[in-house]
Amino acid sequence: MKILVTGGAGFMGSNFIKYVLEKYPDYEIINLDKLTYAGNLENLSDIEKNPRYIFVRGDIAKAEDVAKAIGAGVDAIINYAAETHVDRSILDPRAFLDTDIYGTYTLLEAVRAGKAGRMVQISTDEVFGMVHDREEEFTEETRFDPSSPYSASKAGGDLMCSAYFRTYRTPVIVTHSCNFYGPNQYPEKLIPLFATNLLEGKKIPVYGQGDQFREWIFVSDHCQAIDAILHRGVLGEVYNIGTRQRKSNFEITELILNLLGKDEDQIEYVGDRPGHDFGYAVNPDKLMRELGWKPEVDFAEGLAATIEWYKNNEAWWKKIKSGEYQKYFEKNYANREELLNLK
Ligand code: NAD
Ligand code: DAU
Repeated sequence: MKILVTGGAGFMGSNFIKYVLEKYPDYEIINLDKLTYAGNLENLSDIEKNPRYIFVRGDIAKAEDVAKAIGAGVDAIINYAAETHVDRSILDPRAFLDTDIYGTYTLLEAVRAGKAGRMVQISTDEVFGMVHDREEEFTEETRFDPSSPYSASKAGGDLMCSAYFRTYRTPVIVTHSCNFYGPNQYPEKLIPLFATNLLEGKKIPVYGQGDQFREWIFVSDHCQAIDAILHRGVLGEVYNIGTRQRKSNFEITELILNLLGKDEDQIEYVGDRPGHDFGYAVNPDKLMRELGWKPEVDFAEGLAATIEWYKNNEAWWKKIKSGEYQKYFEKNYANREELLNLK
């Protein structure tokens, strides 16, 4: 197979490219990435010279960039490219609309024109809004009810996928996953932010009281789910990807503090995220039943391995935290409560 992976310099895209090159010795990958603040070619340094891998810098929202990356055609597109951070979408939604909606549309047009055999849309459980307790679950039929500009943009892209299938029979599959964690995650997301802050001796900002909860999937389990969906998924279908490993932010904070030998004095309770979804909980039965996938990594083990990776890869995250992230932090975080009208 020849696969176009978009957003392959980001957290999950880079992990997926390495997974595919290792598992399938005859597959070729083209990585189309705009290299926004979240794109980092260092994530791919160990495979950059692999003859089955090509990097193309470009924007999924530009048809000419997509055409250049696809060339004569590919067997599949896996669309990881997106603006992904909820807090950034609250501060400035524009880029989310450009990439997550218009970019998805641009890729769908290429598939509709016959340039790709199929497309897998990597999306999120956040499009469903929120659940109120850990027993209530999102199924594939749950109505979209997004809360943030990020999740509304992802929902827009996902709806274009279903519309293209229904209207033109464009071969596309949509996936909705719970929260990813693992090595190479940009240190603005909960787990890497808290781990790296603690390693730097800084405080960790828990929003509200930390009672919101998320469901967590380790990188390798998500790669295996996309592998199953790419090869055996039914066109036009939607698959939820979940593990039923649900933890409140406070529970995660405690686990990270313990793993790094720190105590609760390091916690700083800060104003809550506006429109903060209380909980996400995914029903993954369809994927398990129909495609035979199941998650393998227990959260406590995956978290310990992740924290170990951040301990051993200070150069990777220190470069990020002293560069673009520092500018973002100074502009938006230091006076976050004022910017978000939380005072
Ligand atoms: P990330 O933020 O780490 O990386 C995103 C990548 O997309 C970066 O390399 C960036 O340069 C690239 N990109 C952004 N705009 C682009 C554009 N216009 N054209 C080309 N490339 C562009 O992302 P991630 O956390 O690995 O998430 C990957 C995908 O998975 C996203 O679609 C996201 O919505 C979805 N998702 C993420 C999570 C999670 O917990 N992180 C959970 C469920 C679904
Ligand atoms: O559910 C899937 C989604 O998970 C993905 O679609 C998104 O791309 C991804 O960013 C993630 O969104 P969340 O909002 O759940 O992730 P985040 O790491 O930003 O926050 C996780 C929880 O931790 C959330 O309840 C907010 C809280 N939090 C986050 C940060 C960054 C804090 O308490 N303090 C923080 O500093």
